[in-house]
Amino acid sequence: MIKEPDTLMLIGFMGAGKTTVGKEIARQHHSKFLDIDSEIERVAGQTISEIFETRGEVGFRQLETEVLNDVQTFNGIVATGGGVVERQENLEVLQHSPATVIYLHGNLESTIGRLILEGQRPLLQEKSTAEFFALWQKRDPKYQQIANFTVETVGKKPSRIAAEIIALFSANQDELALLQLRSQIDAFDRQIFQTIAERFQIVEDIARYKEKFGIATIQNNRMIQQRIALKSDFSANKDITDDMIDNIMTILMQAAIDKEVKQLNR
Ligand code: S3P
Repeated sequence: MIKEPDTLMLIGFMGAGKTTVGKEIARQHHSKFLDIDSEIERVAGQTISEIFETRGEVGFRQLETEVLNDVQTFNGIVATGGGVVERQENLEVLQHSPATVIYLHGNLESTIGRLILEGQRPLLQEKSTAEFFALWQKRDPKYQQIANFTVETVGKKPSRIAAEIIALFSANQDELALLQLRSQIDAFDRQIFQTIAERFQIVEDIARYKEKFGIATIQNNRMIQQRIALKSDFSANKDITDDMIDNIMTILMQAAIDKEVKQLNR
């Protein structure tokens, strides 16, 4: 599926992990890596922030288009800037690119978290959360439109995402749709376990509360009520059977009780 030569263009919102994942693919696949933002900084002799300050966003976008055109013949992994989809001519360049275009798709929540930690994007500084959300909604369909493949990144480590992308190098056309779906289901598995980890955090707080007020660890009635409520709430979904709810709740509640008891015996 990967077009020859082995060139990939990673696209996606700022903070999607294009640079981190790109470097990781290059490391695992022994290829070269190029970051368009760094290339723009090198060509301009200024940082991205300085370019925005002195030339405005229009000046920055002009440089971005020039560099995007120049890197089309690069043989390796290219990380684009999140705003590469802002200009129609860039969309056309990417659509006709000799490279395979891969969209790193995340969610707004984890992306904003990452951006706040990094804190270097000029657009992040000047936009409100609502504007940021609007930007996300405007760009997402454009990334989808030009991507040959979308990788779901939520909850996955960069090395995992890179491995998924590397698997595309050997996949044939028939396997692609399946790989794309698996990318989504794997992300859900990670979200499910992330949620379970968060549930245990609350269990810890509950154990502390019960200890403080001398409340018994096991409240059988509450557990039964919770199962009844869940079965009723999900009764319209034929995939979520009563049996499934019972099995999963048994595992979760037993593990929570074990944790509470251990905490209390310390
Ligand atoms: C931008 C994203 C940045 C950088 C510039 C503008 C954008 O790249 O090109 O700050 O418009 O989304 P990253 O996607 O690498 O953060």
